[in-house]
Amino acid sequence: MRSHYCGSINETHTDQEVTLCGWVHRRRDHGGVIFLDLRDREGVAQIVFDPDTPECFSAAEKVRSEFVVKVTGRVRLRPAGTENKDMATGKIEVLGKSLEILARAKTPPFPLDEYVDVGEDTRLRYRYMDLRRPEMQNRLRFRSKVTSYLRRFLDEQGFMDVETPILTRATPEGARDYLVPSRTHEGCFFALPQSPQLFKQLLMMSGFDRYYQIAKCFRDEDLRADRQPEFTQIDIEASFIDENTIMSITETMIRSMFRDLLSVDLGEFPRMPFSEAMRRFGSDKPDMRISLEMVDVADLLKSVEFKVFSGPANDPKGRVVAMRLPKGGELSRKQIDDYTKFVGIYGAKGLAYIKVNELAKGIEGLQSPIVKFMPGNIALEIIERVGAQDGDLVFFGADKAKIVNEAIGALRVKLGHDLKLLEREWAPLWVVDFPMFEETGDGGLTAIHHPFTAPSCSLETVEKDPESALSRAYDMVLNGTELGGGSIRIHDADMQEAVLKILGITEEQAKEKFGFLLEALKFGAPPHGGLAFGLDRLVMLMTGASSIREVIAFPKTQSAMCMLTEAPGTVDPKQLRELNIRLRVKEEAKPAVDANTGN
Ligand code: AMO
Ligand code: AMP
Repeated sequence: MRSHYCGSINETHTDQEVTLCGWVHRRRDHGGVIFLDLRDREGVAQIVFDPDTPECFSAAEKVRSEFVVKVTGRVRLRPAGTENKDMATGKIEVLGKSLEILARAKTPPFPLDEYVDVGEDTRLRYRYMDLRRPEMQNRLRFRSKVTSYLRRFLDEQGFMDVETPILTRATPEGARDYLVPSRTHEGCFFALPQSPQLFKQLLMMSGFDRYYQIAKCFRDEDLRADRQPEFTQIDIEASFIDENTIMSITETMIRSMFRDLLSVDLGEFPRMPFSEAMRRFGSDKPDMRISLEMVDVADLLKSVEFKVFSGPANDPKGRVVAMRLPKGGELSRKQIDDYTKFVGIYGAKGLAYIKVNELAKGIEGLQSPIVKFMPGNIALEIIERVGAQDGDLVFFGADKAKIVNEAIGALRVKLGHDLKLLEREWAPLWVVDFPMFEETGDGGLTAIHHPFTAPSCSLETVEKDPESALSRAYDMVLNGTELGGGSIRIHDADMQEAVLKILGITEEQAKEKFGFLLEALKFGAPPHGGLAFGLDRLVMLMTGASSIREVIAFPKTQSAMCMLTEAPGTVDPKQLRELNIRLRVKEEAKPAVDANTGN
């Protein structure tokens, strides 16, 4: 139908006749001349209709925003002084000769030609309209560039794309499963995969050696800006490799992609043990663009009278930290109160601080609600340990280690953004040497990565002291976001059984849940390992979008529903009967029971 895309015509087409198809972006009547901005996926071109061509002039008078039209005309240079530098096609225009309306359009639910603050619910409800906006078109186009880049890279490295099932059994990645009832097996359910983890390991056992897949994963978990119930992984696995090989391949992949698509040099990614990341930044995905650090001070505070500090300082599960904020003395009382409220979100009961007014004056030079509760020399020792100088502020966190890490870790990032302390645009990092297990709270242990991750010690050592065992897992972190994670896997059936036992999974449960994997391990499993990247997060960071919803064509809301299709929806009772499912009527919907008769 068309000869050119609107966005692709320029001065070189001058005097040529072109046929363009697209949406009317804007229509302007300029006393006898009508201008249409016509939009397609490549951009916008200006079409001019003058009264010399009465037929198409009157057609142009009828079109409205978002009508779909076909226009034929001659390309000409815009008259001097009327060029538009902000427009790719701004030097030329098309003098319209014919105009055909291909589809009419109702008034759009929100304007598409400028950025207006439209509620996200409205954007998602009319997503097909929202996606017409150039901003959204660009993001999805970039996403497509990323996937084709990654495919090409992995293909060239000898990785093979293999699809794995969507209707499957539960894969333990730590979230709830989405279940699908089976009609043919009464009372049985499929689970949608939380990741292709077990299948990719089986593919290694089948000898495929190098696998990848751009895979949809499903997790029923609490949603945040960087989480969706349905998301995409770039899933990778390889055999006869160690962690250095897989980390090197994937680091090269990400570095080359940033270089080729964004002209950004990420440099070599530093590696940091998990324990150091937690100690210095309170997080296993520290944002390394921010140089603020937590410093342990519990040893100095064990015998101070201030219980808020001495309590956690003497608790083996407690932690007391100080964090220096250079020039933080400038913070107002209101700002400090707001930060105190902020750490409260993470369970912190307060946010003690010391303002360093003038160190030369010793304790007199410190200003703080807490110095009075501790001997002066201790306060000065803390100031010295964190390296604070005149004009600085030192924040304190004291509580269970988990709360301090989360609260002060989050405060660190918030201060970094609020006070513009980001020192670089990009800060990649590998976090390594994760513990194998963490406590569940009820005395049990759970796998930090997943139960198929290999420990970095022997079977005997893991069995003897599981809580100290480290794993061969690694996470790639970029600007404080976990981009991807993976590990070298257990390829020995005895080790796998031992790890499942430590996790409190009985032999029977193990057999029922992943007996197929345990069995496969006994038929000759190569050493193998891999990693999966979150594609949505990667594209979010690369495009500077504020949430992964901005880089997914049809995302779900925070409450895991689709505003456009209104999924999930109720189903026909007949369908439920076929599936042998009867819905439990909610308590409040049941008829009231008569207190006297009990009926
Ligand atoms: P993991 O659970 O760490 O590892 O997931 C890998 C990456 O997937 C992304 N991701 C998500 N993105 C959007 N929404 C979500 N709900 C979501 N959950 C995870 C993250 C994360 O780093 N099978 C292992 C990988 C392996 O061991 O090879 C796995 O799934 O960016
Ligand atoms: P209070 O004695 O509760 O008034 O607290 C004195 C100071 O200590 C205030 O600045 C509080 O914000 C701070 N504070 C209280 N609890 C904690 C805590 N768990 N960690 C850090 N600071 C705290």
